Order: sequence, then structure tokens, then C-alpha cells
Amino acid sequence: MLASRPVRFAVLASGAGSNFEALAAAAEREALGGTIALVLCDVPDAPVLDRAARRGIAGLTPPVGRFRTRLEDERPWLDALTAHAIDVVLCAGFMRRLHATLLTPFAGRMLNIHPSLLPSFAGRDGIGDALAHGVRVTGCTVHLVESEVDSGPIVAQAAVPVLDGDTRESLAARIHAAEHALYPEAVRRYVREPWRREGRRIVFGEGAGLAGLPAAEVAHG
Ligand code: GRF
Repeated sequence: MLASRPVRFAVLASGAGSNFEALAAAAEREALGGTIALVLCDVPDAPVLDRAARRGIAGLTPPVGRFRTRLEDERPWLDALTAHAIDVVLCAGFMRRLHATLLTPFAGRMLNIHPSLLPSFAGRDGIGDALAHGVRVTGCTVHLVESEVDSGPIVAQAAVPVLDGDTRESLAARIHAAEHALYPEAVRRYVREPWRREGRRIVFGEGAGLAGLPAAEVAHG
């Protein structure tokens, strides 16, 4: 059963990789529910790849094709996940929209972190949009990845105040600190604790949780 053995995670990222770092640190202290076996990145010189290398985690940059906001062919990405027997995919600042080739085999097994309290301020600039709107409270959201961007069921959220005098940078720093605490703990709960899905709601405390999902055929064979 998936929940009774260490889960093999892959992280999908495009940039700085501070969330990768928080996830990897949690895995090292056995607080993530498994190990990060792979980093997949669409930007060959992204700092997240150096961070992965420093931690001895495989980092790959499968081809992206001609487009800027999606992968032209998701199959090489799926092949990499399969080759590393990945159970659960964690998106952490991955800036391309995903489609059925990756989403279908990982339905319920792919999480993302977004820097706002969804459904407010979905999209590419959740921090800037919240600041421009003038909200007094924003935050971050861990959610399941589904085909509509930033739309899947919510696993966990944390609120972050917007202070008078905040700049984009000061607000981003506060949100990132909240993300680094929220994401590893949300992942651990999602892969280790009982939960059941009721429509859009993930209800913790009862249910088969991750073990109740159909076997990820790509991960198991
Ligand atoms: C985070 O703010 C995350 O919420 C968003 O992209 C950012 C990634 O930052 N999806 P990092 O690369 O993890 O530092």
C-alpha cells in the first residue's frame, strides 16, 4: 500500500526553488512522508537544478518544444516520472500549464502551491494582484492540480497579513516564509493521513487517503 511505504516524490519547478529547498529539508528530517527522487525543470539554468545537485537529487530538463506556457510534448516528462517510479508530483513554481498526458495518470497525485488564498488571485502574479487590489489578508494555498489553472481542490491554506507600507518584495518574503512551512506539512498530511474527497472538499480524519486512489499505472508498472 502506498501510504505504508515511503512515497517517491518528484518536484516540478522553473525557478529559484525555495519551496523545493523547504520540501527537501522536510524529507531529510523524515517530515514529508517520503523522499524526493527527482526534480524536473523547464529552464536549463534555473537555480533549482543547482539546489537539487547540492542535495544529490537527480535533476532533469526534458524538452519543452516551441511553446512558452505549455509543454509541446508531455510524454518525455511522463517517461522521466515513470523511469524514477514517482508516486506523487509536487509543483513548486512550475510556470507551464499541464495537460492530460501528465494530469490523467497523476490525478489526485499532483499538488501545487500558489501564493494567494485561492480562488482569489489565481494566475501568474498572485502576490502583485493581491497587493494591487488592496486586500488586507492574502496567503498561500496547496491544492490538487487539475486541468483548469489554480482550480483543483484545496488541501491547505495559510493566511498572511498585508501591512501598510508593504512592497511587492516585503509581501513576497512573508508569503514565501508561510509557503515553506505550509507546503511540506500539507504534503505529509496528504500522503500519510486519512482523508476522503467530498466534491471539491478534501476532508481529513477519515477515509482511505492516498491509498484509496486508483493505482498510478505509470508509477507501478
Ligand atoms: C512560489 O511563490 C509559489 O507559490 C509559486 O511560485 C513561487 C516559487 O518560488 N507557484 P520558489 O521557486 O519555490 O522559490
